[in-house]
Amino acid sequence: MEQKPSSRKAVARKPMLGAAARSDSTPEAVDFGGSVIAWQHRDGRHHLPWQNVDDPYRIWLSEIMLQQTQVGAVVPYFQRFVSRFPTVRDLARASEDEVLAMWSGLGYYARARNLHRAAQRIEQTHEGRFPDRFEDILALPGVGRSTAGAIAVFAFGQSFPILDGNVKRVLARCFGVEGYPGTSDVAARLWALAERLLPETGLRAYTQGLMDLGAQVCTRSHPHCSDCPLAARCVARSLGRTDDFPAPRPRKHRPRRTTVMLIMQQSDGQIMMEKRPSPGIWGGLWSFPETDDVADAARICIARFGLEAEAVDAMVPIEHGFTHFSLTISPLVCRVIHPARATEQPGRVWVTPHEAERYAIPVPVRKLIGRLQGSSTARGGKIQPG
Ligand code: ADE
Repeated sequence: MEQKPSSRKAVARKPMLGAAARSDSTPEAVDFGGSVIAWQHRDGRHHLPWQNVDDPYRIWLSEIMLQQTQVGAVVPYFQRFVSRFPTVRDLARASEDEVLAMWSGLGYYARARNLHRAAQRIEQTHEGRFPDRFEDILALPGVGRSTAGAIAVFAFGQSFPILDGNVKRVLARCFGVEGYPGTSDVAARLWALAERLLPETGLRAYTQGLMDLGAQVCTRSHPHCSDCPLAARCVARSLGRTDDFPAPRPRKHRPRRTTVMLIMQQSDGQIMMEKRPSPGIWGGLWSFPETDDVADAARICIARFGLEAEAVDAMVPIEHGFTHFSLTISPLVCRVIHPARATEQPGRVWVTPHEAERYAIPVPVRKLIGRLQGSSTARGGKIQPG
């Protein structure tokens, strides 16, 4: 689930130690940092497209894309994004629609909206130059303390700790930190550790090493402890309890909501998509019209869109989890006869399922479109459930 920027910034308001404020490293930090750095040089990742560049814009972009998303999924998006928007200025001047479209399929679209707003702020407040002061980086929309730290380290060689999900796991296991890291006291303990362990030199390799260890060795399940440079000092391993760290999010009941999505489809296969209002859930993204009444789809086609549905086929429902509720989507494919073109207007388009994939669409809507492509879209063709 996406973290709320507000909560991330709240943690960041606590006093932070940067290079200037830090005293000499402790023997523990020297030992820990030395192990991570040596391992990174030997076994870490060195050829990712955002490494070995000195352009803060690219480093910032990669860190935002890498929030909640794995490297393999990010690489092609990163490359397409920087060829379309090579500079902060290009990004700031683009329309939000175009930015969202370039993000289409990566999910968590708030990241793209924040990125766009941040680029405009950099244009207005920093004359188009990416800021190099930690506080200014942290003030950008969508940038929390860990992301600001990673940018400060990679782009400017400064000394700041990071604590993304992977690093939380490495530290929680290595030091046996009990409790769910989503609570403020556990997070505070982990941040204190992250600060205390910062080495005096080799910050880039150290920071990248922690990320690489978390992604490749200290994995959530079946960690590869025999390959880990920290194995000898790892508390979780010595207790045989790697599965217990970090503690999982306490299970909370999420209320369930339901909706019916109307997939209006013409005989040539084109489907109708609507742009959702912003702000709101999936604001600014493209989706299918919704109703809360399964039985009434045919009437709604006429009443709302002037379209006659000659057949209505139910597809298997989709479950989607939001932070605060779960949504059951019941899709109905309404095979419409006429007059489809007349219903096109701003914020509403008829496109083939293939064309729809280029739009910024929420994950479950993308799944539905995938199902449409896997089935016959010709009139009379039965939509396969599942
Ligand atoms: N995850 C977050 N930031 C990363 C980076 N710079 N390289 C690899 N994985 C990351």
